[in-house]
Amino acid sequence: MRVLRLLILPILLWSCSNEPNKPPASTEQLSQRPNDDHSYANLDQINTKHLHLELEIDFESQTIYGIARHQMQNRGADTAIFDMKGLLIQKVTLGPKGLEKETDFTIGPMDKDSIIGQALLVNVEEHTSEVNIYYQTTSASDALDWLDTNLTSSKSKPFLYTQGQAILTRTWIPLQDAPSNRLTYSADVKVPSDLLALMSAKNPTERNDIGSYHFEMKRAIPSYLIALAVGDIGFQDLGNHCGIYAEKELLNDCVKEFEDLPQMMRVAEALYGPYQWGRYDVLVLPYSFPFGGMENPMLTFANPTLLTGDKSLVSVVAHELAHSWSGNLVTNHSWSDLWLNEGTTVYFEQRIMEALRGKEIADILAQVEFGELQETLKEMAADSSFQDSKLHLDLVNRDPDIAMSDIAYVKGAFFFRTLEQAVGRAQLDSFLKSYFKHFAFKTISADQFIDYLEAQLLAKSGIDFNYRQWIFEAGLPDNCMKVQTPRLDKIRSFAQSFNEGKNPFKPIAQIKWIQKNGKRKKTVAYVPVQYSDYLIQEWQLFIRGLHPQTKASRLRLLDQQFKFSHTQNSEILCDWFVLAAQSNYIFEIEPQLRAFLQKVGRRKFVLPIYQALAKNKKGLSLGRTIFQEVKTNYHSVTRHSAWKALYRKN
Ligand code: BES
Ligand code: ZN
Repeated sequence: MRVLRLLILPILLWSCSNEPNKPPASTEQLSQRPNDDHSYANLDQINTKHLHLELEIDFESQTIYGIARHQMQNRGADTAIFDMKGLLIQKVTLGPKGLEKETDFTIGPMDKDSIIGQALLVNVEEHTSEVNIYYQTTSASDALDWLDTNLTSSKSKPFLYTQGQAILTRTWIPLQDAPSNRLTYSADVKVPSDLLALMSAKNPTERNDIGSYHFEMKRAIPSYLIALAVGDIGFQDLGNHCGIYAEKELLNDCVKEFEDLPQMMRVAEALYGPYQWGRYDVLVLPYSFPFGGMENPMLTFANPTLLTGDKSLVSVVAHELAHSWSGNLVTNHSWSDLWLNEGTTVYFEQRIMEALRGKEIADILAQVEFGELQETLKEMAADSSFQDSKLHLDLVNRDPDIAMSDIAYVKGAFFFRTLEQAVGRAQLDSFLKSYFKHFAFKTISADQFIDYLEAQLLAKSGIDFNYRQWIFEAGLPDNCMKVQTPRLDKIRSFAQSFNEGKNPFKPIAQIKWIQKNGKRKKTVAYVPVQYSDYLIQEWQLFIRGLHPQTKASRLRLLDQQFKFSHTQNSEILCDWFVLAAQSNYIFEIEPQLRAFLQKVGRRKFVLPIYQALAKNKKGLSLGRTIFQEVKTNYHSVTRHSAWKALYRKN
């Protein structure tokens, strides 16, 4: 690989010039997107069936030097079109390894908003089935998060992970990056010998001394699920083909938090059929990981903010496990139907949680999400994006990231809950089970889903269901099922009474009868309400129920009693900082705020806090100051979103 690096500079300049090589490709050809709104690939003419990667991971220069060997099915194309963004292409060859012949290629212009990236057009012959792209990543390879030692738990070893979904795989591998194309992959990865490499594939459980690892993913997956992580990682098996990978310092905590994984697996298989991927392991990444979890096949990536010590956030792991069916087996054909991945998965997740923790807890979790959906719908109505509250979205010339909202997730899940109410649980379950079987290792569009739903569920049960309204119309249909959660009524009344200026948390008088000198005697003890008396989700509803203009002095009193700013639970911290940011109280808890934003990179927490700060001048200035201090700790996904919240004028 040494040679390769020396060669890169001159070719880099050449390939960056955007000068069409031979034959000159028309501007139109360079920017067409024939098969998918977010991919240039000409999949209908030629498509990758298997990808072999040869990768050298260089931490010093924070660069991956790679060869992407595409085995393609060619239906007579003279050009193979790939997606790329933030990559330097060194050369492209045709033919099997060792017998390769260099070929010409052209790199198209970047799309106007730099969302989709560039087309890489490679000249091929009618019978070409092997295309090899020699390339390297750059600092604009947005999928990659290179962590210095200080951002890891070990503090002594660096870390690298990738995040591909939705369209970032093209920033670390030149490929046809559309979810409608499924491919198998293999990889030879070279890393520093003190680090372990893992992929969304069959994985090693131990480091070897030469730092060379081979991977195979033998089941066809969409490109967004190709993933890599490199670090000082340990492994522990949990039984039932499940296990945990984590930085060694975190491993014990992870094992305790996720010890129910084997049981989750049994529950999931009992619901919707056998797990198809062999092993299921969870890799707990450093805190900068931009999501709670990411369903990379065989190896879910997870954020350490899930480690609360009380298993209160394990539903995220249930969610990622559920994706092994909804999303990974049956994949949305395009990002317009992300709800078919995420809505189905949230429904499945809720069913796993119900089996694991009982109906009351599962319904409380669902109720918290429903509250978020209602908020989102309100905001969408206010900022005139209400059109995007359809399940099926129009994403032409738009970032597919838009689809990642409570609409796809929660409206999507409530679509299935409402359907369950209409047809009965047994009927819906047998429908979903056959759906996962029928579309296994295939992709699905809204129209295909509707045809299958009509034929396999609605016609059979003779039930009329307003699925068109759910899928193609904005807002929440009136028949949306209501979750009954009596236990939450109390917490709602606490919030209401606090908002009315009262203190709902006065110590509660508890009457006790004791025996004294042979006589029964009444005593009264005043028991203060404690943080541990309520579930995390109950506290979330309480904080969210408080008036946004609550005075700093009153927030201070609450904080003294329940120590919200000092909790280790980031769900609570996030909600608390968001509320505090709307008053001056945020300046009293600035050290905690700073520490949180510095440590945690999960977008779901970081973004609402910056957005709340940005609502007033003083807050905005604090937000910008902190962001400038800590932005290099974030993955690009979080950094870009936070930047927009703080700097883009609307
Ligand atoms: N697949 C998603 C993450 C994703 C979606 C990344 C779309 C990029 C584009 C993952 O399964 C997910 O939904 N994560 C959630 C978990 C939660 C809903 C339980 C998260 O990270 O918060
Ligand atoms: Zn998901």
